Amino acid sequence: MVDNSDSSDVPTESRCPIPNLFSEMVQNPVNIFLLGVITILLYRIIKRSFGESVEEPVKPNLPKLQKDFTLEELKKYNGTQADGRILIAVNGFVYDVTEAKQFYGPGGPYAAFAGRDASRGLATFSVVSNEDGYDDLSDLSPTELASLREWELQFQQKYEFVGALLKPGERPYS
Ligand code: HEM
Repeated sequence: MVDNSDSSDVPTESRCPIPNLFSEMVQNPVNIFLLGVITILLYRIIKRSFGESVEEPVKPNLPKLQKDFTLEELKKYNGTQADGRILIAVNGFVYDVTEAKQFYGPGGPYAAFAGRDASRGLATFSVVSNEDGYDDLSDLSPTELASLREWELQFQQKYEFVGALLKPGERPYS
């Protein structure tokens, strides 16, 4: 007869520390952000090692846009217009992300950010569409603000700067 009383007496927690470790890890937004970065890097390495070329974004042949936007004006630039232009606001500034339509275009994994202020979603690492009007982000934690700043740097380096996201009542400078 097999005696398995041993295993049933041992609480699950003491046998495997990984579930605890995981729940502690995901409680901290910095860890979630780092996990996302690691996943992206791993994905790129694996894709390369299987001999596929990493898709280089194709620069769209659209005239450069320089203009400040209200939230309302931004909405139509979600990639569904004839020219396919996609704009996203991050931390008060608008970027042209048309070249990354595989991410932000209709049906893409981050389409919810297209034509929107993506700041809160990026800061809290959730793909949510901001539909509640102008968001002053004043309730974000220091960690979330730091995470948003990281995203902002990435957008500054990768995409064309378009202008400012106007607060309600604010007049455009350009
Ligand atoms: C397990 C969940 C996730 C996985 C596996 C994942 C994976 C990826 C991968 C592979 C890319 C493409 C990177 C590249 O080729 O340059 C990417 C891009 C991106 N991810 Fe995620 N992601 C996840 C969750 C999230 C979440 C929750 C957010 C919300 C903020 C997010 C925001 C983004 C954004 C904005 C981009 C595009 C960045 C750019 O414009 O270059 N991801 N993700």
